[in-house]
Amino acid sequence: MTSPPKRDMTPEQEQRVAAIREQFQQRRAIGQRLDRIKHKIGVYSAKGGVGKTSVAVNLAVLLAQEGARVGIFDVDIDTPNVTRVLRISEPPTKDGEVFIPSSRFGVKVMSMAFFQKDEEEATIWRGPMIHNAINQFLMMTDWGDLDYLIVDLPPGTSDAPLTVMQTLNLDGFITVTTPQELAKLDAKRSINMIKRLNLQVYGVVENMAGEIFGRGAGQELADEMDLPFLGTLELRADYRDDKKPTVLTSDTVADEFHAIAESLRAEIASRAQ
Ligand SMILES: Nc1ncnc2c1ncn2[C@@H]1O[C@H](COP(=O)(O)OP(=O)(O)OP(=O)(O)O)[C@@H](O)[C@H]1O
Ligand SMILES: [Mg+2]
Repeated sequence: MTSPPKRDMTPEQEQRVAAIREQFQQRRAIGQRLDRIKHKIGVYSAKGGVGKTSVAVNLAVLLAQEGARVGIFDVDIDTPNVTRVLRISEPPTKDGEVFIPSSRFGVKVMSMAFFQKDEEEATIWRGPMIHNAINQFLMMTDWGDLDYLIVDLPPGTSDAPLTVMQTLNLDGFITVTTPQELAKLDAKRSINMIKRLNLQVYGVVENMAGEIFGRGAGQELADEMDLPFLGTLELRADYRDDKKPTVLTSDTVADEFHAIAESLRAEIASRAQ
């Protein structure tokens, strides 16, 4: 039997094939890692400083306290804060080509901060670099079996959060708003952006409610956008003690997060039907 004539590819074609093959292998490797995570949930708002990181960290710690297997992935590439809030400094251990995330308060943690030389350094990355970095992280991180991976997103509607959303393929989002009218408007933009990417929003959390900023914008936003309202977090001095996540130092805050976790679980369950 004669073998078919060998058709030589041009160097460009060969390169292209190699690139496709690599992309395919990367996707498969990421798929295998993420298959072991039941729920991948992003915490997001276009507005900065509304409490995304606080919500992500406290929710993760509370879910772990309740017995779930939880990881937190800080993809705020410019200014990763999760490690500071969790007061974690040991980088993940490396086993060959694989990162084993460090654990803190029962939560596995992966953050860009581990790979920055000093804490004050801001990383300025563009879309394709972010895409590659996140893919690299996803491929190399062995989370093990997780019930929840909570993802802390950067603020804004620019390149960074968009790329993260597209790359990570999250199951759904929690949108955080504060009671001010302007925050509500930004949160609305955030929800529209998520929907435009054909991704789900599990619901809205109102943070920093109380006498100073008022209350009610979260519920209003949820009603206007036809989304569940997941709960309210009051503005409290308890957050000032930054030695531990606030759910571990304040029973009142733990109760607030417990209520949010309940609504979230109910929402996830109802969507799975
Ligand atoms: N309910 C609250 N009561 C009091 N302080 C709060 C509350 N929620 C968050 N904070 C504080 O507000 C500040 C901003 O919160 P956080 O860093 O979580 O916001 P963020 O949305 O992640 O910000 P960024 O957009 O910069 O990532 C922090 O110092 C945090 O401790
Ligand atoms: Mg943050």
